[in-house]
Amino acid sequence: MAKILIAPSVLAADFANLQRDIEMINHSDANWFHIDIMDGVFVPNISFGMPVLRDIATHATKTLDVHLMIVDPDRYIQTFADLGSSILTVHFEACTHLHRTLQAIKAAGMKAGVALNPHTNISLLEDVIQDIDLVCIMSVNPGFGGQSFIENTYDKVIALKELIDRKKVNTLIEIDGGVTNKNAKQLVDAGANVLVAGSYVFKSEDPVNTIKNLKEMVS
Ligand code: DX5
Ligand code: ZN
Repeated sequence: MAKILIAPSVLAADFANLQRDIEMINHSDANWFHIDIMDGVFVPNISFGMPVLRDIATHATKTLDVHLMIVDPDRYIQTFADLGSSILTVHFEACTHLHRTLQAIKAAGMKAGVALNPHTNISLLEDVIQDIDLVCIMSVNPGFGGQSFIENTYDKVIALKELIDRKKVNTLIEIDGGVTNKNAKQLVDAGANVLVAGSYVFKSEDPVNTIKNLKEMVS
């Protein structure tokens, strides 16, 4: 079976003990750090910005997977590259010239991701999938951690996997929002490669063990 990547979402960490939580992920079986940047305009919440990401990057020893929930992301591509992002994901709904944005992300030396809101159909990626390194399927409405998983996500994963296979590309499928041990296996069976998990990991009693169990369950 293909290797499944686990990406804990730092949004659910304890910000008063951020270094401790970053080091916990460093020492766990997690593969990536998922970093949620919210601007209070594209989504109805503000998370954190560049100074916090800089400090995360100082301590993190794994890939930084940055999810921009902001309008006009083109303005900050170089900034996020300079801060150490390896993957930069923009929202389909926030990009008027998505193809251009993806080229700019790659030109800055990062992998290019596209996130889809729950209402955005997979078929809209038909003409751009070959330029996308990762598609992040939102399984909640973006803006907050701790929401419940939207069941229609399984059908979207299947549709995206079909598109990726048909176009013969290597795009990764990431699932973001409400991921737990209840839906992880079915998501991976449908074609998911990367599972983001915020509250499920950080609000558990033993996050290192939760990550380990989640990974074992899908491997
Ligand atoms: C939602 C964010 C998610 C969130 C996931 O807008 O993009 O990454 O942190 O958190 P959980 O796993 O708690 O739904
Ligand atoms: Zn996210």
